[in-house]
Amino acid sequence: MSVHTAPKAELDFSKPLTTVDMVQAKGKRSLTMVTAYDYSMAQLADQAGLDMLLVGDSLGMVMLGRKDTVSVTLDEMIHHCRAVVQGTKRALLVGDMPFMTYETSVSDALKNAARLCGEGGVRAVKLEGGHDVAPQVRALVKAGIPVCGHLGLTPQRAAVLGGFKVQCKSAQAAQILVQDALELQDAGCFAIVLEALPAPVAEIVTARLDIPTLGIGAGPHCDGQVLICHDMFGLYSNFQPKFSKQYFNAGAAIREGFKTFVSEVAEKSFPAPEHCFTIKDEELQELKALLGDKA
Ligand code: KIV
Repeated sequence: MSVHTAPKAELDFSKPLTTVDMVQAKGKRSLTMVTAYDYSMAQLADQAGLDMLLVGDSLGMVMLGRKDTVSVTLDEMIHHCRAVVQGTKRALLVGDMPFMTYETSVSDALKNAARLCGEGGVRAVKLEGGHDVAPQVRALVKAGIPVCGHLGLTPQRAAVLGGFKVQCKSAQAAQILVQDALELQDAGCFAIVLEALPAPVAEIVTARLDIPTLGIGAGPHCDGQVLICHDMFGLYSNFQPKFSKQYFNAGAAIREGFKTFVSEVAEKSFPAPEHCFTIKDEELQELKALLGDKA
């Protein structure tokens, strides 16, 4: 089968996808992941046949209106994960470990990932970084928690990367990234997100790994692609990354819908008779009589 083969029309919702399915897909078919932060969006994405849903800490920006992801707390992540899990039957649900919930120590990583899985209901966690977090990845996988890595532009470290910028433009930086990816694989990651990398660098990393890469701004040669749903549908107007594609502008359509509601309420064309509940005429007359209403 070609890696470009479209998914089968029939989706089996009785068999949730697993991390093993993701690893086995490498070289056979392209994987898909999108972010979801609430029940309704998760349900739509799951019904559409996405392989993985990510409760990303990008929710700090697109759902909570903050300027970056570093202020997102574990409790906030758990809150959103609990909503997303309700709408997810088939896709593999992955939750982001927030900033400083895993970097500090292996035991912090274990304790916090256990909460994300236990209270949040996700079936895998994602964390950012390479060599420095490999011991955490190893310990989590050993404890039974599947881990997705995240290399390249790691938004939690944007402050030291000089902002949200393309990474690995030099051979040396790209070489370190390849080593980091191999180390994450060796530590037990089932997949690695590659964010904002030159496409040829992502292609080299992808070719050297046995586990799938999931690109976001990393070109077409990754084993799968991940997008932020708010970027896909024009729901976040502050910033549209060059690498994301807007499939349609639901944001503009929603704004128009709100404007129409405002004018229909003003001109009293909403609610119309079909939106109203009725009462039997005799009950209405009796009510008026009870109230002494002569009309
Ligand atoms: O938080 C997030 O949405 C992510 C994606 C950019 C992969 O990590």
